[in-house]
Amino acid sequence: MVEYGLTAQLGQTIQKLSSATYHQVAVTGLTPDTLYHYRARSLVGTRTVWSENGTFRTAIDPSQSSTPFTFVHMAETHDHKEVGLFKEEILAAKPHLIVDASDHVDYGSKIAEWDEYFTYGAPFYRHIVNFGAVGNHLYLKSGWFGSGIFGNIDLYKKLAAHPGNEEWYSVRYGNTEFFFINSNWYYDPWRLSTRQIRWLKKALAKATDGVNDPVFKVAIHHMPIWSSGPLHREFLDRFWTRRMLLKHYKRYGLDLALTSHDAHTEHSIDGKFHELQTACGKLRHEWRTKNPKSVWRHNNGRTIGIIRVQGRQMNVEVVDSDGKRLHTFTVKK
Ligand SMILES: [Fe+2]
Repeated sequence: MVEYGLTAQLGQTIQKLSSATYHQVAVTGLTPDTLYHYRARSLVGTRTVWSENGTFRTAIDPSQSSTPFTFVHMAETHDHKEVGLFKEEILAAKPHLIVDASDHVDYGSKIAEWDEYFTYGAPFYRHIVNFGAVGNHLYLKSGWFGSGIFGNIDLYKKLAAHPGNEEWYSVRYGNTEFFFINSNWYYDPWRLSTRQIRWLKKALAKATDGVNDPVFKVAIHHMPIWSSGPLHREFLDRFWTRRMLLKHYKRYGLDLALTSHDAHTEHSIDGKFHELQTACGKLRHEWRTKNPKSVWRHNNGRTIGIIRVQGRQMNVEVVDSDGKRLHTFTVKK
């Protein structure tokens, strides 16, 4: 049962009486750009379990394109204690939503790790809508032999409630459209290159056809396009993102790609398109690749991106867990 309403008194309920391990309850008929309070209740045997009260803000209607909003770019969130240190920075930014470029956990098929993810991140995840891309660690099972190295993303799909096939999908939010892409080409090169790219071309074409087009187009995927990270990943990962994504980004005028994986922070510019890679959990200090598009980079601490969308301007800030502003840039249309 989910209780929800416009005040902490809640007042409305939706029940789903089926028995399941992972529950999903759709709440419909909500007002755009409105703060709702909620809590969930579940029956375990004869015991009733309540969640704490949370809140969420519904999306801004695309017709209200002048309404400003803020979103947070998180990445490499597998290191949950460290991620929890960003609580004050995230809450102070008052974001409408979080976009996570992934590696949420080390082993995507282990529920205990997701428990930890949601526990340390509860101060913000309980209050801010969260959309994620699929990182390579979401495919991993614990244990190398016997249980196999690679699992699949079924558990993530059960825990998340994304539109479409939940693996590649787009979300329209006010004047911005977010495109979430599965960039793990080496796990599944064929399907990601054909079905996914067909979807992406169609979605980008629709976003530029002159009918209710978004002002900004933002892509979120785990593997970076341009990065100073480890050299072998130039062939393993970035070869694919450049080959499969870059020409479409340029053709359809993508404004910003938010990425992850190499576990450092870097801002690259390729023509009119910006890429921001951040890491707020796992860190690595390996700058092994010459990145011709790099304009700023940082590997001396964890970061998140805070992006404020205001009309035809997008202000991007990179901050650390002490709230120190390390880098800023503006995307104007
Ligand atoms: Fe990764």
